[in-house]
Amino acid sequence: MSSMKYEKMRAKIENIVSQPLRKFKPEELKEIVNRYEKNHVISKEAFERARKIIPGGVEHNLAFNYPFPLTSKRVFDCYMETIDDILLTDYLMDGGPIILGHNHPGLTEKVLEVIKESGPCHGITSEYEYLAAEELRKHFPSCERIRWLQSGTETDMLAIRVARVFTGKKHVIKVGGSYHGWSDQLVYDLHIPGTKRMESHGIPREIFKYIDSVPPNDIYALREMFKEKKKVAAVIIEPMGGESGAIPVKPEFNKEVEELCHQNDTLLISDEVVCAFRLHMGGGQAYFGYTPDLSIFGKIVGHGYPSAAALGGRADIMATVSAGVGGGAKRAYCGGTLAANPLTCAAAYWAMKFVEETNATEIAGKAASRLSTGLNEVFEKYDLPWFSYNYGGTVHFHSSCVFGLNITDPKQGPQIKQRKEFMEHMGAALVDQEIISVAGSRFYTCMLHSDEIIDETIQKIDIICQKIE
Ligand SMILES: Cc1ncc(COP(=O)(O)O)c(C=O)c1O
Repeated sequence: MSSMKYEKMRAKIENIVSQPLRKFKPEELKEIVNRYEKNHVISKEAFERARKIIPGGVEHNLAFNYPFPLTSKRVFDCYMETIDDILLTDYLMDGGPIILGHNHPGLTEKVLEVIKESGPCHGITSEYEYLAAEELRKHFPSCERIRWLQSGTETDMLAIRVARVFTGKKHVIKVGGSYHGWSDQLVYDLHIPGTKRMESHGIPREIFKYIDSVPPNDIYALREMFKEKKKVAAVIIEPMGGESGAIPVKPEFNKEVEELCHQNDTLLISDEVVCAFRLHMGGGQAYFGYTPDLSIFGKIVGHGYPSAAALGGRADIMATVSAGVGGGAKRAYCGGTLAANPLTCAAAYWAMKFVEETNATEIAGKAASRLSTGLNEVFEKYDLPWFSYNYGGTVHFHSSCVFGLNITDPKQGPQIKQRKEFMEHMGAALVDQEIISVAGSRFYTCMLHSDEIIDETIQKIDIICQKIE
């Protein structure tokens, strides 16, 4: 399970959000930002140019950095070099997919072979399509049939459609704070539990007629919702808890959800976009010990190669997504020109092989445990209420703990902005120490994060902690 007991994590989250935010000393923050500006002059120029053509100057939420985004020149192993010639130790890992390290020579070689043979895609089946599916099923026995798709978002979207076709029911329940991509129906109750439609601009209210959420880890609320809704097609979960475990799951919760789903003839959808291969070779379902009806795979399944995603599940359920034109049978319509292209399927097949052969998941997990243990020692040393834990190769470190806020609490609700801002400052302080993280609060590890690299990171975070008021 996680490196820290659930009850302890909850108590620590409560402790952080119930006390005033611990901030950087103003003069230290000023120096951090000044150095960032000075060290990344070329990235700044790139950003100024990009923002004239790209809305906001940055394409991806992950790439957002304060005070401005950085531009890469080269990435290799567990490092990222910016166009300013600054070498950053990389814990972004593309938001999860990289477990073998960047540009793993064996994997690159295999993908290049496909490109040389046939280019990126051509529209008929290639052998890698079923080879990769067989490999995926080997690790995920609940996935008797697999359909390749192009992104986590569209796979989540298809999963709920499949559940509705198969069960003939309409309601879908998610857990507050969880992320299942950005399709209309699933941009609901994101990031901070209870925020419901806060992020759903541009999506008509009626779209959510059959979508609802329950508070994290609240099996009682879920049971009540089953009674209220009656016809629930599916419950969809992030196995580690919302935001890849930033809102940690109670270890028994997933199994309890499975049992409730069975009692109600409802499908359980396990969103394995971040858990597959990173948490465990068999994902969240193997780690926590439950059997979903449908599983979602995304970016990690292709080790970061584009257009990698898949829906897997029970054969009878997956029959609803058989390809073909018309025929009158009840189908869950889906498509995707680039889905199952040979390049991505080869990347998926070889990535799974290499991760298994090298034991990369376990090695990355050990690096993550070392990091999170070291961080807790540092936080204790400086008497900070902050804390860290890891689920396999995903390390969370809560400082301002924005995801832990209770938005119905009149004291905590209004703190979202300043606590988010602090995470941006933390991101900048990490870059100042030549470390790149996910939003100043998460680290993904890979098998190349050696003990020396981890220990150096811990020392650098020690330096950051000295800059806190
Ligand atoms: C749990 C989860 N589901 C779905 C998605 C969406 O995947 P994609 O970005 O490929 O659309 C993500 C993305 O990070 C995710 O973490």
